[in-house]
Amino acid sequence: MSRRDDLFKALAAANAAAALGGGESRIARQHEQGKLTARERIDLLLDHGSFEELDRFVTHRCSDFDMQDRVYLGDGVVTGHGTVDGRRVFLFAQDFTVFGGSLSEAYAEKICKIMDHAMSVGAPVVGLNDSGGARIQEGVVSLAGYAEIFLRNTIASGVVPQISAILGPCAGGAVYSPAITDFVIMVKESSHMFITGPEVIRTVTHEEVSFEELGGAVAHSTRSGVAHFACAGEREAIWTIRQLLSYLPSNNLEDPPRRPTEDSPERRAPELNEMVPASATKPYDMRDIIRKVADDGVFFEIQEDFARNLVIGFCHLGGQSVGVVANQPLHLAGTLDIDASIKGARFVRCCDAFNVPLVVFEDVPGFLPGVTQEHGGIIKHGAKLLYAFAEATVPRITVVTRKSYGGAYCVMNSKQIRADVNLAYPTAEIAVMGPEGAVNVLYRKEIAAAPDPDALRAKLVEEFRSKLANPWVAAGRGYIDEVIVPADTRPKLIRSLRMLAGKRRSLPPKKHGNIPL
Ligand code: HXC
Repeated sequence: MSRRDDLFKALAAANAAAALGGGESRIARQHEQGKLTARERIDLLLDHGSFEELDRFVTHRCSDFDMQDRVYLGDGVVTGHGTVDGRRVFLFAQDFTVFGGSLSEAYAEKICKIMDHAMSVGAPVVGLNDSGGARIQEGVVSLAGYAEIFLRNTIASGVVPQISAILGPCAGGAVYSPAITDFVIMVKESSHMFITGPEVIRTVTHEEVSFEELGGAVAHSTRSGVAHFACAGEREAIWTIRQLLSYLPSNNLEDPPRRPTEDSPERRAPELNEMVPASATKPYDMRDIIRKVADDGVFFEIQEDFARNLVIGFCHLGGQSVGVVANQPLHLAGTLDIDASIKGARFVRCCDAFNVPLVVFEDVPGFLPGVTQEHGGIIKHGAKLLYAFAEATVPRITVVTRKSYGGAYCVMNSKQIRADVNLAYPTAEIAVMGPEGAVNVLYRKEIAAAPDPDALRAKLVEEFRSKLANPWVAAGRGYIDEVIVPADTRPKLIRSLRMLAGKRRSLPPKKHGNIPL
């Protein structure tokens, strides 16, 4: 055999060793736990055969704790690039079979390298996380590696989309890399995120809590709002990443990709005429309206189990990717509270950063009253949503389906905070407050003194409703551009989006604003 043959053989052997990560028994353990390996995950995520790996032969440099005798090619993270639906993405997949996927200096450098490439060419970064955190044997060097990643996450924010899937443990400060990224996807039962685990909590605060209750996918997708998706399994999680990428551009200088559709832009939906109930207090599912309007009836909802009084997600309208923000009368009567404001604000800023136009469906009786809300800081949190809409320069359209009351009128993409097109259904009620509240404030004494207070109240409520709680006053001032037949919502939105194509608006030069965090 020639020397060249030997070299090629050595290369093949090294490649095979690298592909095995921590070895067959640890791969078997990963599978027994219902988890895929780093490479299997990459295969699912990327277009077939598109993966190009970098740094497969990188190893750690630690010699403490006999680590020089435990060296694995790749050092516990698989990094590289490939395509999703033909579009370039960079990724890293943490390999739990090598030192529990823990992060060493060399491992952090591998991640930083692909992040730097992604920034220089303008492509998304996907992180598949499954790690025991800082490599304990490396001490502060590992912490420094994390900090290098956090810095890049921050600088890349708003430049290239960053998506994190949590597919195993993710603890301590390590959670901050996913937290800075645009979307966090978790898997029920097998992924956990927390700053300190159940053991430490038991010692410090004497609280008893399980891993799942503390930092599982359900906890983070319903209570904390840290996770945007709680998936039933890894395959669903990886499908979710591909979906998200399909609505986003590769970077902030590009527009989102268009999705061709057979669904006519002129399609009317007569069912919409019946969807908003005649009674102002009767709930309905705003998502039914969104689906009737969207291309092919597809609405990709985000954070669907957190702050359910506000619905957010992506859809296409006439092939154009749009971000939808909608009040949900089914929950808390569609009022805005702290969680809904934070949820909405982050999404609005994400869409604005990535040139995704915003479409708002509005039916909001106001902000949620209560001591908990006030002391929890609804003033500053509600201001986040207001701020996010007000500074957004993407095309912005609002459809008022029913209520638009008080401060919530201003916040929910009103004309005065520079929405581009404001439409209303004839059922819209745009006023300072609802008729009942208004009459109680204005006519309390008269009602109390009347021989039949209920009859007088009903008469005054009706009077207020017909005079002020309607779309006509706002339309008469141009705050509403057009009062539309609900059946026409889709064609009206698509025509508005086409009118707004190429919209240019910029904010005054500044280092950055000071959003009320
Ligand atoms: C080095 C680690 C490791 C780590 C796990 N391993 N975590 N090696 N550094 N942080 C190794 C184990 O020794 C073991 O090696 C293998 O990975 C698999 O771990 P197991 O414990 O057998 O797996 P499992 O039972 O599934 O438990 C997983 C785990 C647990 C929950 C993640 O390993 C664990 O608690 N690890 C420590 C987590 C931790 O405290 N990390 C530091 C957090 S602080 P062998 O050779 O036996 O296969 C932190 C700060 C980040 O991360 C700061 C950023 C600013």
